Amino acid sequence: MCGITGYVGTEDGIPIVQETLRNLEYRGYDSAGVAVNDGDVAVYKQAGQVEDLTVPATSAASCAIGHTRWSTHGEPTDDNAHPHTDCSGRIAVVHNGIIDNYDDLRAELSDRHTFTSDTDTEVVPHLLEEELTPDATLQEAFERVLERLEGSYALAATARGHEGIVGARQDSPLVVGHADGGHFLASDVPAFVEYTRDVTYLEDGDVVHLTDDDVSVFSDGRPVQRDRRTVEWDAQAAEKGGYDHYMLKEIHEQPQALRQALSGRIDELGGDVELDLSLPPEFVESVEEIQIVACGTSYHASLYAKELLERYADVRVTTSIASEYEFSGGRDPWSTLVVAVTQSGETADTLGALRRANAAGARTLAVTNTVGSTVTRETDETVYIRAGPEIGVAATKTFASQVVTLTLLSVWFGRRRGSLDSETAAEVLSGLQRVPGAVQQVLDQDARVRDVAREYADEEAFFFVGRDLGRPVALEGALKLKEISYDHAEGFAAGELKHGPLALVTPETAVIAVLTDGGAPEKTLKAVKEVDSRGASVLGVSSADDAEKYLDTMLSVPEVGVAEPVVANVYLQLFAYHVADLKDRAIDKPRNLAKSVTVE
Ligand code: F6R
Repeated sequence: MCGITGYVGTEDGIPIVQETLRNLEYRGYDSAGVAVNDGDVAVYKQAGQVEDLTVPATSAASCAIGHTRWSTHGEPTDDNAHPHTDCSGRIAVVHNGIIDNYDDLRAELSDRHTFTSDTDTEVVPHLLEEELTPDATLQEAFERVLERLEGSYALAATARGHEGIVGARQDSPLVVGHADGGHFLASDVPAFVEYTRDVTYLEDGDVVHLTDDDVSVFSDGRPVQRDRRTVEWDAQAAEKGGYDHYMLKEIHEQPQALRQALSGRIDELGGDVELDLSLPPEFVESVEEIQIVACGTSYHASLYAKELLERYADVRVTTSIASEYEFSGGRDPWSTLVVAVTQSGETADTLGALRRANAAGARTLAVTNTVGSTVTRETDETVYIRAGPEIGVAATKTFASQVVTLTLLSVWFGRRRGSLDSETAAEVLSGLQRVPGAVQQVLDQDARVRDVAREYADEEAFFFVGRDLGRPVALEGALKLKEISYDHAEGFAAGELKHGPLALVTPETAVIAVLTDGGAPEKTLKAVKEVDSRGASVLGVSSADDAEKYLDTMLSVPEVGVAEPVVANVYLQLFAYHVADLKDRAIDKPRNLAKSVTVE
């Protein structure tokens, strides 16, 4: 995730903002930058690490903003690093999020302004340049710019001849720190927690103006009061945004990650999706098979996508564990699209499968989280899942973002192949837009899931079952639990249980059933009854209230249509996390595993 920081006070701003940026390094980034305002504005930015940033050792500027960038639009280069400036260099802006309508704004501005980056952010300083007339205050001009922006943002700006920093929040966090002799602004408290624990969390729609002796917050142009709170973290917890582990932090980041995956891609009225793909229309219409290659969690996301692609795009889809593709892949390349799904974009098995497909002459597409990764250089097309960096070894938020992005891809294909009408597409898309909120509802049950984990933690083995779209989630739930708790956990298609695995079910084992819409709950319930009569404890993640009577424990899933199993999966992530935490496992770095598997 990009990180924003700002400081205005009585001290030299450069070393302070550099320190705040170092404190945000845990979020992951590929570029960094600082702008200082000592009456005039100067910007220092480059691709690479905060410690490599070339800035003056000291300055007379007691106002500065800073940024760590995780690329979503444009490669990680010096020009694309933040802060971005207007044509005259008197305004500097840092941004976290995505400006959905940047294409339109850039087209409108480009005859009067010179753009120097490929970012969506750069429209903001140029808009501000137009609004910051001699009789306007920075805040007034900034508020007029915000009216033009669509999308998600945390923004901070400073300008020559204007005091302090202005900031705004919409669907992207921003917090103010109140210190002796100055104020801070940041995407996350750890940025400035060593200077102050006295904070104000801004709300969506808030605009803030910080000077060294004042913080004013506005909503709809009127001053508002926001509560001040004291955070009680130690330095180690602060590094992880207040969470005990990166995995838990990343599980909780899912609503924001999902909003980013959807941002600017949905035309709900037209029932369509915009993905910036240049696949020739005749290829899209005539392609006979989509072969998906992936590993681990990405493979489970691919199994989910297979069902949706077949359903919406009316095309044959095969999913291969990437390391197995070498034995079967590469057939009929002229009528095949090969899709590589990989969070890191660096997994050797997936790249190996892709190279086989390329050698056979197939058209290829990457679905990845990592701008500039190897997979993006070796495929014809790329769709980003925009989840932000994932540091915990166990993939969590990237699974949800992969599924949602692949659902968009399925609708994209379906609309262009004439197999999905606009009404049905609009319904699917409207369900998708409810997913971030539904995921938040599940996250709000975190304490209850910990209680449930406590009840189940000592079971001898865990069997996860689901059908249809619930099956990949059952497989993923089992993978998550086994890799971080080291418990024996297996996932099955619920119908397969009676063909063998049922022999393992005893009163000392637990069965976890995915009973949501999109997961044929009435059929999965048959398996639940089978295991119930063998004495196993059954935990259900379910959107069907009538399932409760067959379950020992039920966790309720909000109703969102075909994406319900993805929402249910958030319970399974929390369950795995808490079981592992109760057993004091090395959650972020499970034994024998690596985040990016770059060997075959
Ligand atoms: C499990 C996990 C792994 C990865 C797999 C593929 O939690 O993280 O199974 O999903 O190694 O990695 P990517 O998606 O980077 O290709």
